Amino acid sequence: MNAGRGQESAVEVLITREAVERRIDEMGKEIAAAYRDCLPLLVGVLKGCAIFMSDLVKKIEIPLEMDFISVMSYVGVQSPGGAARITKDLDTVIEGRDVLLVEGIVDTGMTAGYILRNLQARGPRSLRVCTLLDKEVRRIVRIPISFRGFNIPDKFVVGYGLDYRQLYRNLPYVGVLKDEMIGLDRS
Ligand code: IMP
Ligand code: MG
Repeated sequence: MNAGRGQESAVEVLITREAVERRIDEMGKEIAAAYRDCLPLLVGVLKGCAIFMSDLVKKIEIPLEMDFISVMSYVGVQSPGGAARITKDLDTVIEGRDVLLVEGIVDTGMTAGYILRNLQARGPRSLRVCTLLDKEVRRIVRIPISFRGFNIPDKFVVGYGLDYRQLYRNLPYVGVLKDEMIGLDRS
């Protein structure tokens, strides 16, 4: 079992740590300006949001609340299954609230689309989307994105919270997993 070693050699850097941090800084300012007259509730989509959201909220210099939601997502690289089930719901009642959904990545849009429909039905005052990464070329479901970190090409990326088989989330940059690593047994 060497899953904890050699992470760096499995990945080619796509967006450096410095570039991610700089962009998150800007996004924090954009979000603070957009929500300066209300108390936004940031809803993170677990687990991919975790690293991004914890860095982002520190850059939003206005009062805010945080909550998290988790939905059944697809397993593996190429099989976007139905994101049809909430596995961890919000603790917060969002009726009348200004909700900002925080995603690590929007790919086909099926996950975000499902969550947006679900949250919209609860009657928030506003509902917007923030994502660190946008793989727009893969979009199937139209998602209005108000705050976007980076538009990325059609590559499977890891790091900054994003995983391949639950690994690589802790890489402090966004990288492309090398082909030879995909499908490898981790034993
Ligand atoms: P969707 O296709 O937009 O529904 O994205 C579903 C989920 O797949 C995302 O929330 C991520 O968890 C995951 N995902 C999509 N693309 C990537 C990727 O390039 N790397 C890691 N996870 C991804
Ligand atoms: Mg994943």
